[in-house]
Amino acid sequence: SVSHDLKAPLSSIQGLLNVARLDKNNNASVYYDRIEKSVDKLDNFIKDIIDFSKNSRLELKQEKINVRDLVEEVKEGLSYLNEKNKIKWLDEIPADVTIISDKSRLIFIVNNLITNAIRYADLTKKDPYVKITAKIEKGNFIFAVIDNGQGIEKQYHKKIFDMFYRANTYSTGSGLGLYIVKESVMKLGGEIEIQSELKLGTTITFTMSLQPK
Ligand SMILES: Nc1ncnc2c1ncn2[C@@H]1O[C@H](COP(=O)(O)OP(=O)(O)OP(=O)(O)O)[C@@H](O)[C@H]1O
Ligand SMILES: [Mg+2]
Repeated sequence: SVSHDLKAPLSSIQGLLNVARLDKNNNASVYYDRIEKSVDKLDNFIKDIIDFSKNSRLELKQEKINVRDLVEEVKEGLSYLNEKNKIKWLDEIPADVTIISDKSRLIFIVNNLITNAIRYADLTKKDPYVKITAKIEKGNFIFAVIDNGQGIEKQYHKKIFDMFYRANTYSTGSGLGLYIVKESVMKLGGEIEIQSELKLGTTITFTMSLQPK
């Protein structure tokens, strides 16, 4: 729940600070690492809530967007994820895919899908990859993020777009990402779909009509 996700990392930080103060040997770095983890969790959660409020509040904009540039921009912003460099990027986005849409919502969607593909990669495989594809077909914009990561069991496919849902218990996320993605996709008049198989990988496809309604 919201209050649990806000309070749990804070209580953990308070607890760690107390233990650190009492530690005569002063193994500071151990506490720093754990405190940092809690701070990151809280930071993530607050970002999600702000994005959610923005998505419900802000009016739809119509901006010219080059999709390849937008994806590059999003990927640059994800350099803080260490796993990013362990993944092979097999993007297929022609330079001329340009659409008129709401840039900040599109960035939110793309950012979440790519972050998930990195976070839930399977680094025990010898060739972990992520492939981002984008094309315009019959007046529809079709965007997909394809990974060969951990995958999701079929029984959970419908649930991953629910609020607070996490398919793996060790996830450090708050389970809000795909919920807000779905809300944003709806605002854009699009659809989002998942194909996934446990241990094989996941494909999330976002489709949106470019025809004026
Ligand atoms: N590409 C993927 N591969 C495997 N599992 C995924 C993938 N994308 C999402 N999931 C599963 O779906 C769950 C819900 O995803 P969602 O993005 O909503 O939440 P989160 O990543 O846990 O947290 P948040 O995005 O709020 O930081 C994840 O916890 C994960 O278990
Ligand atoms: Mg996520």
